[in-house]
Amino acid sequence: MIIVNTVSDLRASLASARDGGKLIGLVPTMGALHEGHASLVRRCVAENDVCVVSVFVNPTQFNDKNDLLSYPRDLDADCRLLSDIGAHIVFAPTVEEVYPEPDERRFSYPPIDTVMEGAKRPGHFNGVCQVVSKLFYFVEPQRAYFGEKDFQQIAVVRAMTADLRLPVEIIACPIVREPSGLALSSRNQLLTPQERETATTIARTLVESTLWAKTLSVAEVHDRVVATLDATDGLRTEYFQIVDGDTLQPVSRWTQSHSIVGCITVYCGERPVRLIDNIRYK
Ligand code: PAF
Repeated sequence: MIIVNTVSDLRASLASARDGGKLIGLVPTMGALHEGHASLVRRCVAENDVCVVSVFVNPTQFNDKNDLLSYPRDLDADCRLLSDIGAHIVFAPTVEEVYPEPDERRFSYPPIDTVMEGAKRPGHFNGVCQVVSKLFYFVEPQRAYFGEKDFQQIAVVRAMTADLRLPVEIIACPIVREPSGLALSSRNQLLTPQERETATTIARTLVESTLWAKTLSVAEVHDRVVATLDATDGLRTEYFQIVDGDTLQPVSRWTQSHSIVGCITVYCGERPVRLIDNIRYK
């Protein structure tokens, strides 16, 4: 495995693979890697000749300075994990390397990027599109792998890829969970052991809600999920929306779409830590 920090070194290390017609896969990450990332990298290694993993905490997608500052970073540990899994190239650039000039491009894909995370974190998806489009230009992968925990992010990245006519297949990979059900996230590192225990209520409630959905209306399931979580000490729901899995617009009836997903963001603990998760109803 090689580690490169510049776009020119990255391109040089990919040149012979590209000339040889080899398949290049990309796993974009912000580091602090866990088993969820590992599952994306394993799949990328299995399905491509070359697996590139980018490790870059992208400042333009953080609308909260403290969130950016507290984001966990450990490149050495990340590289050990990636080497064990068999990744070929780690691209770990500086902010100046990715953004030699401020990125003035604006990406907007309403209504997909205006709801949920788009509404709560203004500018977040614009930043995600800025960095992912740059990574696609730098790496020119045939495939890119994203985790379904960030359900809305995948929809936005698909819209951006189609908009820019980029020949990259976006591959969505299932959420990886702890045995407790807690969705793996780099932010889990910021939880105390007690908060981590509390956070397991999120996934447990979402799973229970798939049973409630057999007899209750969409609005009733929504209200019961929010009431259950908000009644738990240390949890505060920011939003829970039951949406069409393609358009991400709220649904009011279970028969309204062939694909229905509940997307949630919950604040957990003292700091507090912002956790997201989702569950598929159909
Ligand atoms: O999902 C993430 O970790 C980030 O949003 C991504 C896709 C690596 C872009 O910075």
